Amino acid sequence: MRINSLRLQLLAWVVLPLAALAAINLWTSQRNALATADLVTDRMLVGSARAIAEQVAMADGVLDATVPPAAIEMFDTGDRDSVYYRVETAGGRLLTGYPDLPVAPGGKSVEAAYRDHPLRLATLSHAVVGAGADSPIIVTVGVTLAGHDAMVKRLWLSAFAQQLALVAIAGVLVLLGLRRGLAPLIRLRDAVRSPSRNELDPIQVSGAQSEIRPLIDALNVYMERVRAQMAAQRRFIANAAHQLRTPLALLSTQASYALRESAADQRQEALVALQASSGKLARLAEQLLTLSRAEPGSRRPRADRIDLTEAARQVLETHAPNAIARKIDLGLEEAGPVPVIGDGTMLREMIVNLVDNALRYSTPGGSVTVKLTSAAGEAELTVTDAGPGIPAEEREHVFERFYRVAGASEEGSGLGLAIVREVVENAGGSVTLCDAATGGLVVEVRLPLA
Ligand SMILES: Nc1ncnc2c1ncn2[C@@H]1O[C@H](COP(=O)(O)OP(=O)(O)OP(=O)(O)O)[C@@H](O)[C@H]1O
Ligand SMILES: [Mg+2]
Repeated sequence: MRINSLRLQLLAWVVLPLAALAAINLWTSQRNALATADLVTDRMLVGSARAIAEQVAMADGVLDATVPPAAIEMFDTGDRDSVYYRVETAGGRLLTGYPDLPVAPGGKSVEAAYRDHPLRLATLSHAVVGAGADSPIIVTVGVTLAGHDAMVKRLWLSAFAQQLALVAIAGVLVLLGLRRGLAPLIRLRDAVRSPSRNELDPIQVSGAQSEIRPLIDALNVYMERVRAQMAAQRRFIANAAHQLRTPLALLSTQASYALRESAADQRQEALVALQASSGKLARLAEQLLTLSRAEPGSRRPRADRIDLTEAARQVLETHAPNAIARKIDLGLEEAGPVPVIGDGTMLREMIVNLVDNALRYSTPGGSVTVKLTSAAGEAELTVTDAGPGIPAEEREHVFERFYRVAGASEEGSGLGLAIVREVVENAGGSVTLCDAATGGLVVEVRLPLA
C-alpha cells in the first residue's frame, strides 16, 4: 500500500519509529518489573526463613521447631499464595514442614516446581546454640508465584500505559504540528484552484515557509512567462488579422469594380489586379503558416541530418526562372556538403526567404550569390546581393514580425526575416546582416555543424 498523503507520510515517519522505540522500552521494562518482583519475593522468603530459624531452640534436650505464624502471614497479600516450609538438621533430619520440598542450593533463591506449582524458594542455614551436631539447621521457605506474577503485571501495566499515552500524545502533537505546518501548502493549493482568481495573477500565500516560498516564486515566474507568451500571441493574431484585412478589402473593391465595368478590356484590367492581390494574400497566408510552423512547440522537433549545400541548390533551381525574369545573375559557391542538424523543411524555408529577399530587393541586372562554407565546427551560409542594402538603424527591426522598411520597392508581408531568425535560432545558430563590398546586403547565417 502506498500512502500518498504528505500528512499521513509524515505522521507515519514520526509515530512508527516512536512506537518501535516504545516497544523496545516495554520489553526492557518488563524485564525490570520481573527483576523487581524477584527481589521483593526473595527478601520476603529470606525474612520468613530467618523468622522461622530464630524460633528453633533446644528445649529439654531436643530441638524444638515451632513455626511463628508471622513467618507465614507475611505472604498473605491477597493473591492466595501457598507457602511451604521445611526445617531440618545439619544431618538431614526433618524437624517440621514438608519433607519433599526441594532445597535451594548455596543460599541462592531459585524457582522450582513443587506439587505441580511453580515455586520460588530460599534456603537459610542457622546455628542453634547447644544443638551439637544438629547445628546449623537448614530452613527452606517456598511460595507459589501468584503474588509475584501479580506484582510483575502491575509494574509492567503501568509502564505500558505510560508508553501508550506517550505515543498517543506524540501522534496528536505531530498531527497538530502538521496541520499548522502544512497550512500554507493547503492555502497554495486553494489559491491555485480558486475559481475567483484571475487566470494568471501572481499567487500570494501568507505565512509560507522558506521551503515553500521558492515553489510559489517559481510558479509566479512561470505564470508571468506564460502571460507574456499569451500577450505576444494575442498581439500576433491581432497583427495578422489587421494585415489580412487590408488586402481583403482591396480584393473586394477590385471585385466590385470588375463587376461594374462593362467594357471588356477594363474588366480584364480589374481582374488582373484582382489576381495580383489574391496572389499577395495567398503569399501572406503562406508566410503566416510557415512562421507558425517555425515556432518552437508547434511541430514535433526534428533533428534530421541535412546537407545545406543540397538544400541551397534545390532552392536556387526553383528560383532560377524568377532570377532570369529579373535579369539577375543567381549563383552558388560551394565546396562540398555542409551537414547540419535540424528540421529540413524549415531550413529550406529559411533559404527560400533569404533568396527571395535578395532577388526581390536587388536592382535588375545585378547579382545574387549564395555561398556555403564550413569551418571550426560551424556551417556558414551567406546570401549576398547588389541591392540597396538595409540601413544600420533598421537592421534589428527587420527581424520583427510584420516589420517592413518604409518605402521598400517591393510588396511583402514583413514576415520573411522573422521566419529566418526563428528557424536559425531553433537550430542553435545565429543570423547577422552586414554590408556587401559591392554595396548590397550580406545575410550571414551560422549553424553548428553536424
Ligand atoms: N536583401 C534585401 N535588400 C534590401 N532590403 C531588404 C532585403 N531583405 C529584406 N529587406 C528589407 O527588410 C524588410 C523585411 O523583410 P522580410 O523578408 O522580413 O519581409 P518582406 O520581404 O517584406 O515580406 P515577406 O518576405 O514576408 O513576403 C523588407 O521589407 C525589406 O525592406
Ligand atoms: Mg521577404
